[in-house]
Parts: sequence; structure tokens; C-alpha cells
Amino acid sequence: MSRKRTAVLISGRGSNMRSLVAAARVLEFPAEIALVVSNVADAAGLVFARAEGIATKAVDHRAFASREDFDRAVQGVLEAHGIELVCLAGFMRLLSPWFVEQWRGRMLNIHPALLPSYRGLHTHERALADGVKIHGATVHFVVPEVDAGPIVAQAAVAVRGDDTAETLGARVLEQEHVIYPRALALVASGAARVVDGRVFLADEPTPGAALASPGV
Ligand code: GRF
Repeated sequence: MSRKRTAVLISGRGSNMRSLVAAARVLEFPAEIALVVSNVADAAGLVFARAEGIATKAVDHRAFASREDFDRAVQGVLEAHGIELVCLAGFMRLLSPWFVEQWRGRMLNIHPALLPSYRGLHTHERALADGVKIHGATVHFVVPEVDAGPIVAQAAVAVRGDDTAETLGARVLEQEHVIYPRALALVASGAARVVDGRVFLADEPTPGAALASPGV
């Protein structure tokens, strides 16, 4: 089995990137993390990736006149490393339609909410303000519209009355680290197929226990 050469794009601490690197250490994992790219030169995640012996590249967006110029520079780096799949993991730049088109069906993002609810920023604050009892995280294919695109995996988290954005966000992040490697494996192995904007799995798993919040 050839493992899909995967790049992770980050802007900060890179905890999701670390979860992907950890999963891909297992030789049977269908993707290898071949490159970590950041638009922020001193992103903490780059230090970790370097220490792991992974190729890294910082591409400072401020050095480019337009969004597309930046995206073309990133594209050049991805091509130079023979990248086949891209995972956005806390990458805080909007990508141009041109770049998204280059990676259609081959680029994933993780979002800290149960899409299509709470697109955009401050998802935990907004979920708390709305009083929802279940919140979570989503891994989806990237399309030109932000925080949209076929959903590969989701994890739900019960919201507690005494939650703050920090406590809720921490429980969601724990689940992000579970579902991102799972989603990447499904896509890299070819088990996930997109039909009419929905993702279907070659082998649909039996659903786990339902989550009720408040539980009994
Ligand atoms: C995560 O919450 C992710 O869902 C969002 O940005 C955050 C990145 O965290 N897109 P990290 O850099 O992976 O730790």
C-alpha cells in the first residue's frame, strides 16, 4: 500500500497536526505526514514538526501582494514535496477559489463545531450563548465557501451548565484529536467517497451509543 503524502497547514500551536503525526507513526496508517507548512514563522507547531524530523516550511503571507500570490507560493511548496493530500489544522488564512480548486476532493479541514451550525469564529462562545446541549467538531472536505463542504466525520460533546468557552473547547479539542486522524485515514485509503455533496463510506460502521444531554 502506498501511503498518501500529506501536508498539514497550520498557523499556531498545532495540536491537531500532532494528532495526525501520532496516528501516521503507525505504518499501516494510509497517509504519511510529509510536510508541515505555516504562514507564521514562529508557530509552535513548526518546532514540534521539525523535532519529529518532518519537513517544514514557513510562508509568510505578509510578503505577498495578494491572497492568490500567497496561495501560489504555498502550492509551489506542496508540489515540490510531491503532496497528494492537504489537511488544514488551525490554518487561519482564507484560501482563494483557485487554490481550493487545485485540491478539490483532496483537502480536509477541522472545525470546532457541529457544522452546518456555528461556521466561523468563536464557536464555543456562540454555542454557550445559544444554550445548546450538544456541541462538537467536524472534519469536512474544503470547498470555496468557508466552513462548508462534504462532512467526513463529526464528534458530539455534551454541554454542561457550568461550562465556559475554555472548558467546553477543551473537551471539543480532545474529540478533534480523535476524529481528524480517523477522517484522514478514510480519505487516504479511498474508503470515503463523495456523492452529491455527501460522504459515503465503503464499509458503514455500526453506530455507537447515542449521546443524550443531559444524560441519565
Ligand atoms: C482547532 O480548534 C481547530 O478546530 C480550529 O483551530 C484550532 C486549531 O488548534 N480550526 P490546533 O492548532 O490544532 O491546536
